[in-house]
Amino acid sequence: MRTFHPPRRVLLGPGPSEVSSRVLLAGARPTIGHLDPAFIGLMDEIKGGLTRLFRAPQHACLPLPGPGTAGMEAAIMNLLEPGQAIVVAVNGVFGRRMGEMAERAGAEVIRVEHAMGEPVDPARVEAALWARGAKALAFVHAETSTGVVSDPGPLCALAREHGALSIVDCVTSLGGIPVDAAGWGADVLYSGTQKCLSAPPGLSPFALGPRAREAVAARKTRARTWLYDFDLLMGYWSGTGGRSYHHTAPINALYSLHEALVALEEEGVEQAFARHRRVHEGFVAGVEALGLRLPVAPAARLPQLNVVEAPLGVDEARARALMLDRFGVEIGGGLGDWAGRVWRVGLMGASATPGHVRLFLEAMASALNAQGHASNVQVALDAADARFGPV
Ligand SMILES: Cc1ncc(COP(=O)(O)O)c(C=O)c1O
Repeated sequence: MRTFHPPRRVLLGPGPSEVSSRVLLAGARPTIGHLDPAFIGLMDEIKGGLTRLFRAPQHACLPLPGPGTAGMEAAIMNLLEPGQAIVVAVNGVFGRRMGEMAERAGAEVIRVEHAMGEPVDPARVEAALWARGAKALAFVHAETSTGVVSDPGPLCALAREHGALSIVDCVTSLGGIPVDAAGWGADVLYSGTQKCLSAPPGLSPFALGPRAREAVAARKTRARTWLYDFDLLMGYWSGTGGRSYHHTAPINALYSLHEALVALEEEGVEQAFARHRRVHEGFVAGVEALGLRLPVAPAARLPQLNVVEAPLGVDEARARALMLDRFGVEIGGGLGDWAGRVWRVGLMGASATPGHVRLFLEAMASALNAQGHASNVQVALDAADARFGPV
């Protein structure tokens, strides 16, 4: 074996996003013990940072060891018991994953299916909640497979009206657009570190509200997970009479997450949302000037995840390969029904800058021209720059 040196890439796919040097270097600081008093101080700061970011003063907030899927698994396995019903709104790949997971928890899953590119429709969700006494309602705030945002406020309110707990997937939203656990009345929220937080992948910020905590305490059966059993985890993350060993925390990954939260607070969370919005607007102007179409309606578009249709006669995978090879630019392909038909371009966290958009436009124009699809890069750059404003 030899030392691995990754190639230099510009990460503009659906995640991971670019990680700044300060966040990477934080992860390289000396490893200390996971029960060291200094480390416990850092854990408390991370909990505080996540509480502010989720806007969840009444929730227990902590980062789970594992990727975004760990948060999904923790939410579903802690809330559901065998035989209970859950309504899952499916408008892309990640809603579908939630449904599959709930089946593994032994739950009865009522899926409310939507067409790709559509936000979750509260009226259809309400009909499903009326039909069955569901224990929970699960949906995705920012569906990464389609670039669509759904409005969590009305959905969480419906769950509450029907006596169900709400589970909100915020993997791609946290840090890029407002997440408001308290304002929405959301019961459980989870995210990932590798999207708009721009920390390395491998941790899942998680928030459990008071109603959800009561439901966990009232379970008749033990959760079908040990690692993500909420009560056991809390013994380590907030044990009142001292913290007890549960698992060996990913110490250095937590240093990086801490630094990413510090960087976000230094920038200002509202400023970070505004940056994502502005960069998205420049991106849309640029790709439209290249003659490309975005299939998602403007009001439902996520600023941090942009879906662009590949024009007729252009092989989308070949275009991606050229962009990676000649420019080091990584973008994503389509998933599900959109596989082979669209590109997914992430402008998340540290990857959400005007410079990233300009590089994307150069690389995309080159990839289109290589396949005989004439495109004028200067027109696209000018259109994007006009939205970004003066230098
Ligand atoms: C909306 C959404 N939910 C869940 C996940 C799963 O996260 P991970 O890949 O970190 O397990 C992703 C990953 O892209 C996602 O975009």
